[in-house]
Amino acid sequence: MASVDTTILLRLLEAAPNYVSGSILAEELGLSRVSIWGHLEKLNKAGFCFEAIRNKGYRLLSGPYTIHKNFLEAYMLKEQVSSRLHYLSVVDSTMTEAEHQLAMGCEDGLTIVASKMTRGRGRRGRSWLGEDLGNLYLTFAFRPDMPLVKMQRFTLWIGASLCEILNKDYGIPLQIKWPNDLMYAGRKCAGILTESRVQGDKARDIILGIGINVNSSIKDWPEELQQKAISLEAIVGRRFNMNALAAHLIGTVQKSYQTFISGSHEASFEALWACHEYLRGQEVIAQLENETVNGRVIGLGEQGNLILALESGKEISLEAAEVTLAKSYKNIKN
Ligand code: BTN
Repeated sequence: MASVDTTILLRLLEAAPNYVSGSILAEELGLSRVSIWGHLEKLNKAGFCFEAIRNKGYRLLSGPYTIHKNFLEAYMLKEQVSSRLHYLSVVDSTMTEAEHQLAMGCEDGLTIVASKMTRGRGRRGRSWLGEDLGNLYLTFAFRPDMPLVKMQRFTLWIGASLCEILNKDYGIPLQIKWPNDLMYAGRKCAGILTESRVQGDKARDIILGIGINVNSSIKDWPEELQQKAISLEAIVGRRFNMNALAAHLIGTVQKSYQTFISGSHEASFEALWACHEYLRGQEVIAQLENETVNGRVIGLGEQGNLILALESGKEISLEAAEVTLAKSYKNIKN
């Protein structure tokens, strides 16, 4: 059951821009009107701004831009996202936390969100900036019992679904760079990391981590990221309500997971991928485990592998590689 603060915020969000009567809130929650006032005072100190009008009640004028557990929960309930939220202000990595939660028997689809990570993980053993700078750090703990061969396509499907929603609902034309980078104008805006525990040829569970640069300012990042990365705020020139955005993206991932598990994603996978992919037709350099190859991207294989045509005309299929454009983004666009 939702807490008092979450329920108050949910009712205010549902009623916005109208007012919610204090006595109706008090009655629903089984509390006195003074107690409701006390909760609003506490939320006010946490960055919420309310308007109170005699005989009308309260309305929400604004909320914090950073993640606030109850505000995020309220948005998730408003969006009818049924997954449970596990919020941590600080954690080593939301991936590690998901491992603990799965080991302790958590339910399928638990969503973990942190404001700060002290040991954020990226792909290929790299670290991921986890500072509390206005970025979103999300991990989902799924128990799909899915054939391992589907894992690559699962990550691609989630990436393309995120591009679709960011494009459709926020007008942000991100593209997905195989296998898991969300790009804008040659810069990385988000990354996806998928890990799993394997039993035989099945993925017993999947830990899906997503890091999105949202309201962070490029100048606050380490120098090596300043040329390579970008935030949603820098793309559109305005700050995002992180709680509303996070709830919408969490709902998108949960729905996309269900679609994938049921197999109904198959009908739209190719079209969605083609609509958002970044590399098709591009000359690329692929760093494999022991060698580097140059080629042109010609598409995806059945399991989500990247198919390259080499200069010799030979086609190769890449299961895992670090792929970069052979020419800089600027050169290609000009
Ligand atoms: C990449 O290298 O592109 C993948 C980055 C994934 C980062 C996210 S942030 C939330 C989750 N927790 C982590 O420690 N990493 C992932």
